[in-house]
Amino acid sequence: MKEKLIEIIKEAGKILKDGYSSNKEVNFKAKKDLVTKYDVAVEEFLKEKFSKEFTDFNIIAEESDNKNIEFKDSIIVDPIDGTTNFVNQVPHTCISVGVYKDKKPYIGIVYNPILDELYEAKIGEGAYLNGKKLEVSKENDFQKSLLATGFPYSNSTNQDDLNDVIEKIRTILPRCQDIRRLGSAAIDLCFIARGTYEGYYEMNLKAWDVSAGIIILQEAGGKFTNLSGDNYTLFEDKYIVASNGLIHDELITLLNQ
Ligand code: IPD
Ligand code: CA
Ligand code: CA
Repeated sequence: MKEKLIEIIKEAGKILKDGYSSNKEVNFKAKKDLVTKYDVAVEEFLKEKFSKEFTDFNIIAEESDNKNIEFKDSIIVDPIDGTTNFVNQVPHTCISVGVYKDKKPYIGIVYNPILDELYEAKIGEGAYLNGKKLEVSKENDFQKSLLATGFPYSNSTNQDDLNDVIEKIRTILPRCQDIRRLGSAAIDLCFIARGTYEGYYEMNLKAWDVSAGIIILQEAGGKFTNLSGDNYTLFEDKYIVASNGLIHDELITLLNQ
């Protein structure tokens, strides 16, 4: 299944890449939440191919009405993760596809067609970037750790969320190497998997933002939990906290201060 998924996703990557350098009309789902015709085109392409190829799975996808779709044997799709980057030609943008069997992680694929970087993982078989095996970093000194985060779209409308973002940065920033905000949750998780970042946290993400990245991270030896340090549950938890495993406890402690 993985090879067929990759073939289809690479094909869809051409739609994203064509759109990246062309003039785009931007629509607003909310004040900060963008969507373009390319998000819709990539999603339609993937849904059509996946529904023909993988008949045992239903498809949960960002730009679709998922109301009557039960999460069970599911392919969870973010057609363009990092749409703000895509619109502004910041090259961190990707297609993210996570496959779950009976709600359990099975295959994760994140493809950045701009940089031609394909991250893939199947449970039990390791994680790879363009065919090269990935491993999380061995850094265990929090002060030397490079972290990443994201800012929720709600920051312009929800004062509690905005305050929470700022308070957490106030605690974390002086205690780590630095904090990045790259603008694609899927790629952020892959950056821990490849050993670039030691840790990452973000609130208000949707299942499609992380469905593939957490599988890739897990297979590269990393760890992800909710804010309490317990198992992260797709569709339920407000916060995701991810790391190389070695700085996880300290990250959780600081985020809860
Ligand atoms: C967004 C990106 C971003 C994160 C946002 C997500 P989108 O996804 O992953 O990094 O901070 O919270 O919603 O809207 O570009 O698919
Ligand atoms: Ca997303
Ligand atoms: Ca998206």
